[in-house]
Amino acid sequence: MQPSDTEDSTARQAPDQDVVIRAKGVTVAFDGRTVLEELDLDVRRGEILGFVGASGTGKSVLLRTILGLNRKQAGTIEIFGIDYENAHDEERLAVEQRWGVLFQHGALFSSLTVLENIQVPMREYLDLSPRLMRDLARLKIELVGLQPDAADKYPSELSGGMIKRAALARALALDPDIVFLDEPTSGLDPIGAAEFDELIRTLRETLGLTVYMVTHDLDSLYQACDRIAVLGRKKVLIEGPLQMMLDSDDPWVRSYFHGKRARAIVTDDTAGAPYEESH
Ligand SMILES: Nc1ncnc2c1ncn2[C@@H]1O[C@H](COP(=O)(O)OP(=O)(O)O)[C@@H](O)[C@H]1O
Ligand SMILES: [Mg+2]
Repeated sequence: MQPSDTEDSTARQAPDQDVVIRAKGVTVAFDGRTVLEELDLDVRRGEILGFVGASGTGKSVLLRTILGLNRKQAGTIEIFGIDYENAHDEERLAVEQRWGVLFQHGALFSSLTVLENIQVPMREYLDLSPRLMRDLARLKIELVGLQPDAADKYPSELSGGMIKRAALARALALDPDIVFLDEPTSGLDPIGAAEFDELIRTLRETLGLTVYMVTHDLDSLYQACDRIAVLGRKKVLIEGPLQMMLDSDDPWVRSYFHGKRARAIVTDDTAGAPYEESH
């Protein structure tokens, strides 16, 4: 499936009710070193947004800031219309149950089976009987295309692609409205990556999800994403459908989407940054 290229180019002017995340003027610095500066970004309901940028530019930092795991020095982030960072506990809990996250390096807890991993968020947020949790977890396993016998396996017994699927099942544990995926196809072979992209699109259709996907995978951008946001010079340089990227005059955007080395960049980032949580 190709992303829609019929969308108008006024990417930043979606009506409010269609916006699930609105970041405005977001600045994040560590020890005086600014990583993000007055960044603006809108994520729209029901879209698959691909978030790209060179390695080390702050893609994971922005994701963690949206999730309230990094402090920002300036700006506001609203998710479902709520300022999560400054919300009351009850509101925060409600928001946390509406998102699911697949961290860049945080696949699964190695000491827990797949089934137990998927139950972690259920135990944290819901009060369900063991039996119901087991049934729900099995459903998630099926949803992401794993065989039923994956339930009792440990992460070390799974292939890379199966681990990503199991981690996705955990991200879907609470039936979220939005899932955040940080480099979900890195480390997968091209076929595994294409299958994962297909799964994401299918889940978006069937569950009505909004998907925020950090990726270095150009194939994912072409095949899975409806809109793309490019991070560069500490901001979102450009935000819109693929065609807008292809038509852009910005040198970095041009070299990324047209350059011969585009695919070399893909492998660059798989080393990742050492700050991810194994959450
Ligand atoms: N907790 C932290 N403390 C200090 N520096 C950090 C922290 N998290 C990220 N950084 C730095 O912020 C920059 C962006 O990192 P990151 O968001 O992981 O990049 P990427 O775009 O590859 O995901 C990097 O230079 C990284 O070293
Ligand atoms: Mg990253």
